[in-house]
Amino acid sequence: MASDTDAGSQSERKTAIHERHADAAETVVPEQLGLYIGGEWVESASGETFETRDPTTGEVLASVAAGNATDIDTAVAAATRAFERGALESPATREQLLETIADRIEGEQNAFARLDVLDNGKPITEAQADAYLAAQHFRYFADIVPDDEQTPVETGGSGRVTTVQEPYGVVGQIIPWNFPLLMAAWKLAPALAAGNTVVLKPAEQTPLSALKLMAEIDDELPDGVINVVTGFGPDAGEPLTTHPDVRKLAFTGSTAVGKQVMKNAAEDVTDVTLELGGKNPIVVYPDADMETAVQSTIIAIFYNTGECCSAGSRLFVHEEIKEDFLDRLVAAAEDLTIDDPLLDSTRLGPKVSQAQRDRTLSFVEKARDAGASILTGGDVPDDGALSDGCFVEPTLIADIDHDHEAVQKEIFGPVLEVFPWEEYGEMIELANDVEYGLASGVITSDIEQANRTARDLEAGTVWVNQYNDFPTGMPFGGYKQSGIGRERGRETLDHYTQTKSIDVSL
Ligand code: NAI
Ligand code: MG
Repeated sequence: MASDTDAGSQSERKTAIHERHADAAETVVPEQLGLYIGGEWVESASGETFETRDPTTGEVLASVAAGNATDIDTAVAAATRAFERGALESPATREQLLETIADRIEGEQNAFARLDVLDNGKPITEAQADAYLAAQHFRYFADIVPDDEQTPVETGGSGRVTTVQEPYGVVGQIIPWNFPLLMAAWKLAPALAAGNTVVLKPAEQTPLSALKLMAEIDDELPDGVINVVTGFGPDAGEPLTTHPDVRKLAFTGSTAVGKQVMKNAAEDVTDVTLELGGKNPIVVYPDADMETAVQSTIIAIFYNTGECCSAGSRLFVHEEIKEDFLDRLVAAAEDLTIDDPLLDSTRLGPKVSQAQRDRTLSFVEKARDAGASILTGGDVPDDGALSDGCFVEPTLIADIDHDHEAVQKEIFGPVLEVFPWEEYGEMIELANDVEYGLASGVITSDIEQANRTARDLEAGTVWVNQYNDFPTGMPFGGYKQSGIGRERGRETLDHYTQTKSIDVSL
């Protein structure tokens, strides 16, 4: 039990956190909170709004326009007009626009970072990295804007065949709440680089940084090229996925909604890119450098409070080193600073919402009920200063059946499950025994062993002796039910263009 003095200092810290967040909100929450359609800020058709909250304090940050099918219609019409008048026809215009967006994000990097801390709860150092990476992402696609030349193709015929890559037209993009600014960047940059116009639907938990982005670039953005419709999934997301004038859909979020998006897309045979969940394995070999193994695992599961589709959440550690490794891992997890995410020293902030906190804790509860051992964590932190927030302790679980729901499902929180292994084939079989296949990690000092394991893992990305590294240009996407298509790389442009063959008789 906390002593009186502890309770006193905790309540002072709590007051300081609330004040710090109120001050930050005053400076960084954007003033324009309408829908951004055709270059204008407008109310939702229904006039309705919803509140987005700060998960550290529980306070309301802002009321945001709640879009619905009517607003999606208006936004798609604006995007169609922009496409038809050729707003992005010139590759030079596209390159310039992407560079400008990168400049504007860089110019406001601190404000963007603080805004995502408030809306999402992520630690400020990680939000800074998001803003930096978002700007880099726009620059990467500015550098590879495709030209509109016709490319000669060797064929078996006698005519002259060329191909040209053309944009789809209007693209619908739906993004989640775990990396609000960065996910917007991942989606927007390749779509625009390829010459499409966009309707973007941010997550209802974290709509603010996408709105700020529009405010920052409004003066340079041709009307209708990007339209942002905030609102709830079924009201604003779903109509975007069924709209007949949307020629391409890109979605990041849960596998359940991803499947629905794909079904809706089938109605008009609309192309889809899906980036869905993960339940990603990390394999630790006995020859691993211990410090590398511990630090990589910490980053794998606790970066962004575990709210990463790429999170390494199933640890396969070799029996030979298990004891020593787990001792160190528990110590490192207990050493992480859980505190106000606006502080530079904080490593773990709150989860994005109470619903997400409760969801994480309910998985831990189910594991406990099934007789699993909780090696550390498993609860909310015992710190009165944080009691208004959606915090969950860093949690390590052992002695759990691999078929258990808490192992098979994506928890999306700071919860790692541990499985000791001895025989390679059995370990690989278990590592691949989930419906997901997004990412994975291998920790070993033997590069051949690393490559063999990488080839045997069913995953779109394999990190060796590191984790959650996202160098600009590295393709990212899922095997199995983790998705379709690759984002972030040159090939992403293929997902945003279609090939036209022109066959001329000579
Ligand atoms: P979600 O899949 O419902 O939300 C993601 C986005 O889809 C949001 O913008 C949401 O408004 C939109 N959406 C929801 N229903 C829709 C519909 N019927 N049609 C079109 N768009 C729709 O995910 P949610 O509920 O926020 O989180 C639940 C779980 O999903 C998480 O606990 C996590 O396991 C997983 N998730 C995975 C993410 C990833 O990056 N792979 C991101 C977010 C959630
Ligand atoms: Mg929020």
